Amino acid sequence: MNGLMNEPTNGIAAATRAADGLQEKLTTKQAQIGVIGLGYVGLPLAVEFALEGFRTTGLDVSPRRVEQLNAGRNYIQDVADEDLARVVEGGLFHATTDDAELAACDVIYICVPTPVTEHKDPDVSYIESAAEAIARHLRRGQLVILKSTTYPDTTEGVVQPILEAAAARDGLVLGEDYFLAFSPERIDPGNKTFTTKNTPVVVGGVTAACTRLASLAMQQVVEHVHEVSSPKVAEMEKLLENIFRSVNIALVNELARLCDRMGGVSIWEVVEAAATKPFGFMPFYPGPGLGGHCIPIDPYYLSWLARRYDFETSFITLSARVNEEMPFYVVEAVTRAIAEQPVGLRQAKVLVLGVAFKRDVDDVRHSPALKVIELLKERGVGEVVYSDPHVPEVEVDGTVMRSVDLTDEELASCHVAVIVTDHRAFDYERIVQGAPVIVDTRNALKDLAARYPGKVCLLGGGGGGSLRC
Ligand SMILES: NC(=O)c1ccc[n+]([C@@H]2O[C@H](COP(=O)([O-])OP(=O)(O)OC[C@H]3O[C@@H](n4cnc5c(N)ncnc54)[C@H](O)[C@@H]3O)[C@@H](O)[C@H]2O)c1
Repeated sequence: MNGLMNEPTNGIAAATRAADGLQEKLTTKQAQIGVIGLGYVGLPLAVEFALEGFRTTGLDVSPRRVEQLNAGRNYIQDVADEDLARVVEGGLFHATTDDAELAACDVIYICVPTPVTEHKDPDVSYIESAAEAIARHLRRGQLVILKSTTYPDTTEGVVQPILEAAAARDGLVLGEDYFLAFSPERIDPGNKTFTTKNTPVVVGGVTAACTRLASLAMQQVVEHVHEVSSPKVAEMEKLLENIFRSVNIALVNELARLCDRMGGVSIWEVVEAAATKPFGFMPFYPGPGLGGHCIPIDPYYLSWLARRYDFETSFITLSARVNEEMPFYVVEAVTRAIAEQPVGLRQAKVLVLGVAFKRDVDDVRHSPALKVIELLKERGVGEVVYSDPHVPEVEVDGTVMRSVDLTDEELASCHVAVIVTDHRAFDYERIVQGAPVIVDTRNALKDLAARYPGKVCLLGGGGGGSLRC
């Protein structure tokens, strides 16, 4: 017997059998897993299930990605090459572009992109098309778990009606014959300490049975699952997590600029000191602006939803404004550093160090470095090059740029180097020795700047002992 036998099932025996059957399949690892969208979120999840012994099918619209994966070739840093090779060779994972294969899947995760439109409104069209693909093959006993970050009510307001329209064909009832839940993704690309397994996840189902089954599915690959009362709570908590970061980063970014204006006070020293308080404070650090697929975008999902309720999310609007100003601020610091040298703007060469949106990853989506490069070119800087050990080439404003090798000659030939992403692979000693002036937006030269007086302009450093930004 199992816990789901006690669910109110309106006396429908088939319904109980659907929940029990899925529970049985999950606990015996017989459940077939489907993952729609094989990117930063979907591929690690699919490989994790396959490593646990579940037969896993990955569905993606990109034939190139599917082909690569079936050949055992990895393209996501957080997935170990040998893990992917093992599950492909062992027949536990395969990728496809054919949504008909979803018919065989018992649990289907949706991990597709959730961008914003040019007017910064949510674009849930990828979720809709994933839900339609599932709907075409929906059958009794299936569980659908949406993982894409989105506004509260997407699971029930967007996915549920699409599934229900299809379910009506066969008289299937949600929560009895098939199941739907939201479980946000918390993966932190590049984080070696917190991985899929040891990062708790939140799950909220449309019904109690949906929550329990989704929770059971997640427990197969995650140690701790926290259940909430509805998909909306789970959707909202994910946005809270990301907006919390965006608001706090905006606060230190604003204070960094104030420190620069004041002179003599370093925001880095201030934050370090405040962080000694063992309660009620959590350190956040300034930088060149927000990047990645989540933090710069997700706040807009909530402010869009709030407008539907005639509600103004002022914290979100303000923090977005402050953070979006940062690349402009960095470019001002760079142009001032150029002005200090015997070269005109149009003859100056700027070396951008790091274009990934954060340390040690290869993801350039919404990276502030792209904006910095675009603005430097717009301002008329003679030559802009970049170096990034994780990103061999990048497209900025329609032009493909290639990473340059960080040689002594390259460093010496630039007029200003600007550290936008503080990758661990950079040789900072060599950078500070070789480049004439460095604008450091990450405090990457923390332990070196004092030895090279007059060379480093530290964002938020207040000018103490170094150049003033
Ligand atoms: N990247 C992160 O660190 C992160 C963290 C937490 C949450 N999220 C959220 O997870 C979701 C996915 O993000 P990601 O970074 O994995 O995106 P991604 O761009 O890396 O991957 C998305 C994949 O989905 C595929 N795809 C698009 N439409 C499809 C469709 N209709 N059917 C099948 N495949 C389709 C794309 O080809 C791509 O391979 C987003 O909502 C994002 O906000 C991302």
